Amino acid sequence: MRIYYLTFPLFLLAFLSSCKTVENEHQPSLKTSLKGKFLMGVAVNDAQTSEQDTAGLRLIKQHFNAVAAENCMKSEVIHPEENRYDFTRSDRFVAFGEKYKMAITGHTLIWHSQLSPWFCVDKEGKNVSREVLIERMKNHIHTVVGRYKGRIQGWDVVNEAFEDDGSYRKTKFYEILGEDYIPLAFQFAHEADPNAELYYNDYSMAHKGRRDAVVRMVTQLKAKGIRIDAVGMQGHMQMDFPVAKEFEKSLLAFANTGVQVMITEIDMTILPTSKQNIGADVGTNFEYKKEMNPYPDALPDSVAQAWNTRMEEFFNLFLKHSDKISRVTVWGVTDADSWRNDWPIRGRKDYPLLFDRNHQPKPIVEAILKSVNKNN
Ligand code: XIL
Repeated sequence: MRIYYLTFPLFLLAFLSSCKTVENEHQPSLKTSLKGKFLMGVAVNDAQTSEQDTAGLRLIKQHFNAVAAENCMKSEVIHPEENRYDFTRSDRFVAFGEKYKMAITGHTLIWHSQLSPWFCVDKEGKNVSREVLIERMKNHIHTVVGRYKGRIQGWDVVNEAFEDDGSYRKTKFYEILGEDYIPLAFQFAHEADPNAELYYNDYSMAHKGRRDAVVRMVTQLKAKGIRIDAVGMQGHMQMDFPVAKEFEKSLLAFANTGVQVMITEIDMTILPTSKQNIGADVGTNFEYKKEMNPYPDALPDSVAQAWNTRMEEFFNLFLKHSDKISRVTVWGVTDADSWRNDWPIRGRKDYPLLFDRNHQPKPIVEAILKSVNKNN
């Protein structure tokens, strides 16, 4: 009898925890359904990596098998002064990805936005010499990539180097080093972690100008024998941009160069924009006007439906080309997490992601699951 009293609670515990596993296994899950097609990724913030956002965490564990650093690895955060790194947030991010066995993307090494103010200038604010900038890039990349060597699947090495017309963006890196800064960045990243995958990442990739420029750049890197594994097509979209056909053309053009394609930063704003293609330059900012914030309470059904239909069109495109795509990443878990609420106009209410503010999946989630099953 005594043994019974002792063992029964243990049996009960074991039974209950096995029920939980079974229940989780049967919950609809994007990552499980998309197995064999591509990784399903999400950008995570500090509230999630510290596990304070428990509702968000539940969705991350259920649906995603890849994580990207939304902000914590950008140079202004990780390398605030020339002789000071701050790995507090990035260490937590990497540990989080490992804990949940996710493919980890480091975002991003060389980028003109959220760039540490000291990076390209001297104490008087004047551009540093070519030699100095190369040395700084090398130290930055070697230190950051080296710290996480063997733990990160791949790095967005260079972010947003081109304009819509395909010309080089006139960043400080370009001003001082010309186009050489791109191969140098890839070379330094490869030296620091020879097994890490290396990516080039950009927005508005459906533009022919960018498409051609990126194809040229990837071809040149490959001709020089420099490692590049994938092109990341940021999926910051609007209801009227990009045109799916043009996006598809770019996807195929990138795949044709022999690299994988990643759809890296999906969100689709439903809010009005001042021009047809607003892009995704974080430096863009417009003044708040009430008429630019039409859905402060909720999204009318018809508008939500149009959003879901358009998002489904894109996911169907990704599924159609899943042999060329290694990862699809959404830029945040729920609508409340999205940077789109504050960009390019602060203080609006947007609805750009797959899960709503109550952590409920939108119809698109069901639609993706259905499409995958249909095609299997
Ligand atoms: C955004 C973050 O989501 C925001 O929190 C931050 O304030 C600005 O940057 N392209 C990129 C991402 O490559 O790093 C940007 O992320 C969005 C545009």
